[in-house]
Amino acid sequence: MSIFAQAVQRQGYAVSDRHSEWSVQSNERSVGIVGAGPAGLTLANLLREAGIPCVVLEKGTREHIETRPRAGVIEHRAVQMLSSHGLADRLLREADRHGACEFRVNGRAHEVDYSALYGGQTHYVYPQQEVVKDLVGHYIASGGDIRFGVTDVQVHEISSSTPRLTWTSATGEAQRLDCSFIAGADGFHGVTRRSIPAGAIQEYSHQHGIEWLSVLAEAPPSTHKVIYALHPDGFAGHMLRSSTVSRYYLQVPVADSVDNWPDERVWAELRKRLALTDSDWKLTEGRIVEKRILDMRSHVVEPMNHGNLYLLGDAAHIITPVGAKGMNLALHDAEVLAAALIEYHRSGDDNGLRTYSEICLRRVWRAQEFSQWMVFMIHRSPEPFLSRLGEARLEHLIASGASAGYFAQNYVGP
Ligand code: PHB
Repeated sequence: MSIFAQAVQRQGYAVSDRHSEWSVQSNERSVGIVGAGPAGLTLANLLREAGIPCVVLEKGTREHIETRPRAGVIEHRAVQMLSSHGLADRLLREADRHGACEFRVNGRAHEVDYSALYGGQTHYVYPQQEVVKDLVGHYIASGGDIRFGVTDVQVHEISSSTPRLTWTSATGEAQRLDCSFIAGADGFHGVTRRSIPAGAIQEYSHQHGIEWLSVLAEAPPSTHKVIYALHPDGFAGHMLRSSTVSRYYLQVPVADSVDNWPDERVWAELRKRLALTDSDWKLTEGRIVEKRILDMRSHVVEPMNHGNLYLLGDAAHIITPVGAKGMNLALHDAEVLAAALIEYHRSGDDNGLRTYSEICLRRVWRAQEFSQWMVFMIHRSPEPFLSRLGEARLEHLIASGASAGYFAQNYVGP
């Protein structure tokens, strides 16, 4: 019997001989999920749907996590997954679908219809906080257990079959949960990854030599498509959120500060870098509601589990925002881990748990490679030779159907 099956038996599951299924007894331990982002909440919903007990711990308030702006693009396959579990009703009603983007270079616009190049698949533009809102609402409506505003979360005994979470509740009481498994979905700075003993995992990290100033403004979009602009002074991006709010990015030097970017400078730089020479296109401006410097860093942990702790989303890997893969990878992790835990609880088969990390990492590294490919293509490097190589890559993408096909497959798929 595998160590996982032994662990489950010790935890009070019993085997029903007739159906060779694990039947759950009253002392069943919960899956402890740390972090209520898209990954943790999707996992929680999928486990609840399958009747597997779980508890979600979140340090923020419900209001905070439901209003915090982050990513905004969801891929076709992630929407299909959410929808197959009844988690995408509002998304499917409200999200805009996008199948083309625009590259601007030397003042000229070039559209890439990636949907046409890749089987009609599209992106859905739906802000991350709306995904979170839907997932929290669905989980709570189905009777799910979620504790907001917790502090001092600690992970214990992950190498044993009886892992444990302790924390202080929002009202100050010390709490404890004996778990079957722990899912670490608490982001890059969370406690779960740090609870893995040194040497048990390998961490790969890379700073891409650039930074982005990320700007959110109450401004209607000035475009129907995501715009990537390559300008001698650096990259500028115009991304979509809603009919009243837009997201913009500017390449800035490493270690730059938002203090150097008063609103007037942001708009002037966006106007300049996004400008078209052969059209009267204009940027609509509005009130800037958020300005942050994004560290363009990639980080991957291998393997994504240790003992009975499984890492998901940003706790296991971060990726640059270029290509908009982060939330999609997090949702994929949740889907794979949920399937593995459900299979295990139903039949004792731990194959899904044993292959969890390998399956997720295959997609993670594919996405990292693509994001890096795009980073190189759309930014100015301090080294002029590298900048010209990036431009050559973009020119090839615009001129070559094969290169555009590669872009489309990786951008909206696979
Ligand atoms: C975004 O919507 O924030 C976004 C979209 C596409 C990218 C990067 C960011 O490549």
